[in-house]
Amino acid sequence: ILLSAFTGCNKSGGDTILIGEFASLTGKEATFGTSSHEGTILAIKEINAAGGVLGKQLELKTEDDQSKAGEPANVVNKLISKDGVVAILGEVASSRSLEAAPICQENGIPMITPASTNPKVTETGDYIFRVCFIDPFQGTVMANFAANTLKAKKVAVFTDVKSDYSKGLAKFFKEGFLKAGGEIVAELDFNGGDKDFKGQLTAIKSAVPDAVFVPGYYTDVALICIQAKQLGLNVPLFGGDGWESETLVKLGGDAVEGHYFSTHYAADAASPKVTAFVDAYKKEYNGKVPDCMAALGYDSVFFLVDAIKRAESTEPAKLRDALAATKEFEAVTGKVAINENRDAVKSAVILQIKDGKFKYLETVNP
Ligand code: PHE
Repeated sequence: ILLSAFTGCNKSGGDTILIGEFASLTGKEATFGTSSHEGTILAIKEINAAGGVLGKQLELKTEDDQSKAGEPANVVNKLISKDGVVAILGEVASSRSLEAAPICQENGIPMITPASTNPKVTETGDYIFRVCFIDPFQGTVMANFAANTLKAKKVAVFTDVKSDYSKGLAKFFKEGFLKAGGEIVAELDFNGGDKDFKGQLTAIKSAVPDAVFVPGYYTDVALICIQAKQLGLNVPLFGGDGWESETLVKLGGDAVEGHYFSTHYAADAASPKVTAFVDAYKKEYNGKVPDCMAALGYDSVFFLVDAIKRAESTEPAKLRDALAATKEFEAVTGKVAINENRDAVKSAVILQIKDGKFKYLETVNP
């Protein structure tokens, strides 16, 4: 009893500020959670080393949702009611953020998703924020890229119907591509976790597209690229931020070469803020180059701390107001302005897979 009373104290009274994090540390999208978690930890270490915030040290309580539907609700309930966290960081995947957001909203605990781009996440309510752009923007970016850079006239779209992210991005891409004067010649579905995509890819091939848009996550995308190649579907495949994982190249090998995706930042960008982060991350994690989830995880902590400082409080309602008032926050992934929907307005980058590496192509501003 005494212990839990002390835990409760973290909210306001104790000498630490307890922050909750839920992430996919294991399971199908384990690299998403691992990266964002590593970025989160690095930020907390840096802030604590510099004296913490409001004279207190930050403490992080992390829960693994195993990339599984159902788990986000379990672990976020626990973080709020048992641990008494002042705010929640997470998730990367939109479907999992969507599961947790109503719980944070009902309890009046601010939630900041580092990387969920589906618009519905923040529509849940006024306690839900993100430090990334949203998919209406990302979809438009890739629609214009297909029309203007790939010079594609006919595009096929291959959607993961189990993922809110995939369904949303497919929709926004289609709207943008039609607007750009293009034609959608085939629309096929898969279920995240499927192993055999040959039937749909054969149908796509027979529609003779100039390129195929695959708004999926890296494990499925790698298999799709391999099977497309086996079937002789030799056109550019392209997608969104869900492609970003070293595992895409590890699994996909040759089959992912030359393909394209949009994402949140490029580790080789010529920006002092990016360089400082990349150096610090490499030092902390054995020379590993941080991907965008690592950068966004890192940004989510500084974004929260910036608001705590302005609120001069960790009281959830005050914190919420300060988060909503964020007008110019310098993140590793770019300048963040929070708009009236609690979404970050910021630029996207487009990368190409070249020699097994992600090569920076261009930046697209909102
Ligand atoms: N944007 C994806 C989603 O909302 C998650 C993601 C972000 C994946 C960044 C990879 C990189 O589901």
